[in-house]
Amino acid sequence: MIIRPAKVGEHMALTELALRSVQQGWGYSEEFMAWEPEAITVSPAHITDAVTRVLESNGRMLGFYVLTGRPPEIEMSRLMIEPDAIWLGNGRRLWDHAVATARSLGARLITLDADPNAEPFYQRMGAETVGEHEWEPPMMPGWRVKKMRYLIPTNG
Ligand SMILES: CC(C)(COP(=O)(O)OP(=O)(O)OC[C@H]1O[C@@H](n2cnc3c(N)ncnc32)[C@H](O)[C@@H]1OP(=O)(O)O)[C@@H](O)C(=O)NCCC(=O)NCCS
Repeated sequence: MIIRPAKVGEHMALTELALRSVQQGWGYSEEFMAWEPEAITVSPAHITDAVTRVLESNGRMLGFYVLTGRPPEIEMSRLMIEPDAIWLGNGRRLWDHAVATARSLGARLITLDADPNAEPFYQRMGAETVGEHEWEPPMMPGWRVKKMRYLIPTNG
């Protein structure tokens, strides 16, 4: 298993992975998935201008993360695991790698917008919830994106 930089041209494959991850991971409807897809898609610029890293096993992509922004504050813009590879420690693997990467860039804080179903995972990783966004999908009243942050330990 390796974690490597995403390659130019992989944005479509990563977008498809992200769509599978979110829809099958949380059992969302087609209608919900069509609501704001740009929140999870991967653009060519995510690969060329941001920090996108891929978890790969035997040549298969199992997940990825995208870090954007500039130190001291980095945003975890995406963290997605293939549906058949969740609950196996892969999210933690990528999280730990992302924290180390952010630290090496000089960041002190990681901010992120979390799907409410992913909030307990991020809390388990040590992040705290500091609020929620007003955005509410018409087909899912009460569903709110959580604002979270993680203070990077200085001695880690
Ligand atoms: C959220 C996500 C990245 C977690 O990845 P994962 O590979 O399942 O997580 P791990 O197996 O590494 O779990 C690490 C720890 O978090 C816990 N955990 C993982 N997902 C959890 C969840 N949904 N609720 C509660 N705890 C969770 C695990 O039990 C594990 O705990 P441990 O420390 O006691 O072993 C994955 O579920 C996913 O890709 N979901 C769909 C896409 C998504 O919503 N991404 C986040 C967008 S904001």
